Amino acid sequence: MEQYIIKGGEPLIGDVEISGAKNAALAIVAAAIMTDEKVVIDNLPDVRDINVLLQAIEGIGANVVRKSANCVEIDSSTIHSVRVDYEYIKKIRASYYLLGALLGKFHRAEVALPGGCNIGSRPIDQHIKGFKALGADVDIEYGMIMTSADELIGSHIYMDVVSVGATINVMLAAALADGRTIIENAAKEPHVVDVANMLNSMGANIKGAGTDVIRIKGVSKLHSTEYSVIPDQIEAGTFMFAAAATKGNVLVKNVIPKHLEAITAKLLEIGCCIEEYDDAVRVIGTDNLKATQVKTLPYPGFPTDMQPQIAVTLAMSKGTSIVTESIFENRFKYVDELARMGADIKVEGNTAIITGVDRYMGAQISAPDLRAGAALVIAGLAAEGFTTIDDIVYIQRGYEKFEEKLSALGAHIEKISTEHEAQKFRLKVG
Ligand code: EPZ
Repeated sequence: MEQYIIKGGEPLIGDVEISGAKNAALAIVAAAIMTDEKVVIDNLPDVRDINVLLQAIEGIGANVVRKSANCVEIDSSTIHSVRVDYEYIKKIRASYYLLGALLGKFHRAEVALPGGCNIGSRPIDQHIKGFKALGADVDIEYGMIMTSADELIGSHIYMDVVSVGATINVMLAAALADGRTIIENAAKEPHVVDVANMLNSMGANIKGAGTDVIRIKGVSKLHSTEYSVIPDQIEAGTFMFAAAATKGNVLVKNVIPKHLEAITAKLLEIGCCIEEYDDAVRVIGTDNLKATQVKTLPYPGFPTDMQPQIAVTLAMSKGTSIVTESIFENRFKYVDELARMGADIKVEGNTAIITGVDRYMGAQISAPDLRAGAALVIAGLAAEGFTTIDDIVYIQRGYEKFEEKLSALGAHIEKISTEHEAQKFRLKVG
């Protein structure tokens, strides 16, 4: 099994280029199957989750041509099935975007019901509520969500919780419904806007994405497009906190600074220096990181996907910090791993009370999920001595060339599979 081995203590210094946004790209790949014409998607991150979704659409008959590591052409005129099996869903929950996409295009979809995952129970009631409001029947049979509609009719839908997934899934189906749909209390995340822009480039008529009311005028057909995915706000934020935690100086390139405001604000609060450019942000760390308080919230609040990365940084900052997780119930699983590196964190319900320590010490730890895994890499980079991280498959789901990008910033990190490789690394870095 692959692991990361890290020798910590080096400040990260240099430039890093951010990849396309995984969570936008997942929905954009699903949207691509809604036309019989060819769709080219560029700036697609070459990460495991995207590759599994591409296999899932090939599994129902789409033809996917990889034009380069970050560009695919999708021809969905050959789709012969509307059934997506558990094989894909268990690897990647976001295959459920195929529900909205297939329902919109074929008025029928059968997609395995995703279970919970490491970060929480993750219900999909709001997706189902939205499909029903558009006139679809939705049943759960033998672990599959079966949905079909004679016709999809635009509707007025109020989301009971702000959900990225439900907003996008309903937007996909409604793009090809008859008449107007209004989604109230919609999620405002940058990836919701990106999916709307992509659908509009295919001929959809979606207005208001990025606000909490999205208005969709259904069209009868979508057409080909060439679309480039926005930069990954969470990958960018992860490198920004890695720069802060290692007291480094990193120019994070190919970003939309506006999408990073909540992250930038917290870095400033804890004492880092930030320089903003049109499409880049420089983070300059400090020897005197300060404590703060943070609560995760839907965009434009502080993202839950950045909660472990900020907590790992605060656990080395002077004073007592409070981190409140308000989106998912199980997102503090990394705390026990971090304690093995010397952190002092007490979790009470959805709140972590963090007492800053002077330093981490390297240890053998495991990644509990994608973002927590990335946060533990940050801890390893900041720690004294060697850290090995198991279960890095989680990290590979969402970070393209993570270890390569970190190495280019001066980090001592390698992916290894054997003890022999670990020893070679130890000898090399001393
Ligand atoms: C998306 O998940 C992201 N995934 C997650 O990123 C991210 O953590 C999350 O949004 C929040 O920003 C993708 O985009 C593929 P939600 P999603 O629906 O859409 C509740 C990562 O690390 N809810 O916005 O599943 C839900 O339980 C991943 O890249 C319902 O109650 O999240 C949660 O408390 C992990 N009913 C809240 O809403 C529903 O029908 C927000 O979830 C749907 C959601």
